[in-house]
Amino acid sequence: MRDIDKLISEMTLEEKAGLCSGEDFWTTKAVERLGIPSVMVSDGPHGLRTRMEQTPDPNDSIQAVCFPAACATACSFDRELMQRMGETLGEECRSVGVSVLLGPAVNIKRSPLCGRNFEYVSEDPYLAGELAAAYINGVQSKNAGTSIKHFAANDQEHHRMTCSSDMSERTLREIYLPAFETAVKKAQPWTVMCSYNKINGVYGSENPHTLTEILRDEWGFKGYVMSDWGAVNDRVKGLKAGLDLEMPSSGGINDAKIVQAVKDGTLDEKYLDLAVKRILEKVFLYADSLPEKKPLDIDKDHIIAKEIAEECIVLLKNEGALPLPESGAKIAFIGAFAEEPRIQGGGSSHINTKTIVSALTAVKDICEVSYAKGFNREENDTDPALLEQACELAKGSDAVVVFAGLPDSFESEGFDRSHMRIPDCQNELIDRICELNDNVIVVMHNGAPVEMPWAGKVQAILEAYLCGEAAGEAVTDILFGKANPCGKLAESYPIKLSDTPCYLTFPGDRSAVYNEGVFVGYRYYEKKEMPVLFPFGHGLSYTSFEYSDIKLSSDNITDKDTVTVTATITNIGNCYGKEAVQLYVADKTGFAMRPIKELKGFEKVSLAPNESAEVTFTLSKRDFSYYNEELCDWYAPTGKYTIMLGSSSADIRLSADLMLTATVKLPFVADENTTFEEFMDYPEGKEAFEILFGQVEKQMLGGEHFDENAVRAMLSGMPLRQIRSFGEITDEKMYAAIESLNRHFGGSKWQVPPEK
Ligand code: BGC
Repeated sequence: MRDIDKLISEMTLEEKAGLCSGEDFWTTKAVERLGIPSVMVSDGPHGLRTRMEQTPDPNDSIQAVCFPAACATACSFDRELMQRMGETLGEECRSVGVSVLLGPAVNIKRSPLCGRNFEYVSEDPYLAGELAAAYINGVQSKNAGTSIKHFAANDQEHHRMTCSSDMSERTLREIYLPAFETAVKKAQPWTVMCSYNKINGVYGSENPHTLTEILRDEWGFKGYVMSDWGAVNDRVKGLKAGLDLEMPSSGGINDAKIVQAVKDGTLDEKYLDLAVKRILEKVFLYADSLPEKKPLDIDKDHIIAKEIAEECIVLLKNEGALPLPESGAKIAFIGAFAEEPRIQGGGSSHINTKTIVSALTAVKDICEVSYAKGFNREENDTDPALLEQACELAKGSDAVVVFAGLPDSFESEGFDRSHMRIPDCQNELIDRICELNDNVIVVMHNGAPVEMPWAGKVQAILEAYLCGEAAGEAVTDILFGKANPCGKLAESYPIKLSDTPCYLTFPGDRSAVYNEGVFVGYRYYEKKEMPVLFPFGHGLSYTSFEYSDIKLSSDNITDKDTVTVTATITNIGNCYGKEAVQLYVADKTGFAMRPIKELKGFEKVSLAPNESAEVTFTLSKRDFSYYNEELCDWYAPTGKYTIMLGSSSADIRLSADLMLTATVKLPFVADENTTFEEFMDYPEGKEAFEILFGQVEKQMLGGEHFDENAVRAMLSGMPLRQIRSFGEITDEKMYAAIESLNRHFGGSKWQVPPEK
């Protein structure tokens, strides 16, 4: 074991400050005289964007495998698959000497318009956290680190370096933090990357609430925090708040500021030592695990990329058109994406791929198809000649597969989309083809939901998302039934942009106000009873599954217990398939404003025809809780909850109820603003109120027009200070009453407001 404390004691102040920022774009600094090596980091998340050696441009990257992006892998609902992808990437990191892979990216898809949604996992924090943890465990099992990003609330690209994501603590805790929390608790990523944006007015890079109080003190994060590239605002403030490594290099400017701050006493050196220690622990964790250098095997990993893609593609609609026959039918592939699929998004995650297999190439191994380009991939306007050729082909075909999607220019890191449409030329093409042929199948390549005005007219829709360099092979295998689709949407597909939860406020400029609160994605559409095009968790298969026999280990628990939920899933169709079974919890207590239901479990089962499997889930307090801001903690109210098992959020197959009893009492602070109603919620309060303030009622009931119920109804929402004016209650008397309640009930439950 290395003695890192000893090493730090031998470092000069300047060396320590230097270690807290990068040497260049992709590496940390070495301190040769002490044997501290420099290590390399690299994007991430769905492949290696590793700088080529000896190139002046830091963005020149080596050839590597492009795996499906997170918009696609999220649809796998498969922890094992994510772990496998992580292991493969971890091995690749070791092959090329990457100490930390910059991913996964788990920001919540607040709006479908966020330009970077293709890189993010889900609108649901539970799903995002579980899949991220599996990915991290996979990468780190190979002794390479990860950097979960962007911590936190980096949910738009517009003004991403200055905008403040402003929301309630409850919203932050319930929606925007849990994916990070789960990953930290279940996988301990080596590093966390802070976001560019501010969170409630304070930069992510200098926010003690997120970087220290929550991340380290509450969740127990043990690694180092690095900045997003150029996210540092005030370096010294950041160091104190918990930001260890600044990336990339600050050219020595911020190192000097750290040195100066220690010298003039504005920065306690212990903060610096702590940051250095956290960085060095991971530098040596990597460097000391012998780099058994296996060369990067792009061809082997291409096959893994294809296998992963097949598990992610979502069959959104199928009126029987799929799978396609391999012979005996005239099949047309139409659309530029058949020839040139969009496999990944633009920006820092962009992989320099060696191979991209298109559907048009892959289908050659299966059967002969005819092809027409139909439109120019990067253009919005129709090319009449291409459209006419495509229509001609469609007329004489038994089935037409249109390959559509979003061009690169419509969607990328760095900007948000302004609408949810695919290019006009593609919508026009699909409409025209539907007029000429009644067997149209659409394959989509896009990183986020789009409007599909033609969804009702086509026979089948296959959502391939941006599913990596083997996109064409995976898509054709599914089209022709060589693989059975098993992806489920990790986000809701709204019908139109104006239906979306933050339509009125997205994107923010200086401030992004998260007015929709916890009602993001399906949590919003369900609460508003608003129809969607395709619901969260939706995805079809070529076989069917039956759900039966739901059992709870107990239907009466306290918030200290766990409960086990089991059910049987049977493949009742004709072919092998996989089903992602989803568990949702619905709070029926009516205690707080909550979503209709929330995802709290999922299991993917593989079943041959007639085969059954039992799925098991374990739920505990957190799964029933919301974040209570007065308690500053998770709280599960007493009452009834419904546990639902479904094939999607809108296709619930089984449910069971349980009663839960809270063992935690919520704090209640009585002061002059406490209302009559709040008093009445507590039996003790009711009694006290009636004794102390009964005279108000008496006095009012003395009047001609009042009956008792009317008086009570009138008083119910009024604060004590106002009620006081109806009776002969002085300030003194009122505070004495509150104080006597405090004495009567003891402890912190009743508190007297500060002296006036
Ligand atoms: C992105 C990060 C990325 C970094 C390094 C930043 O602009 O936001 O996600 O890891 O650049 O490329």
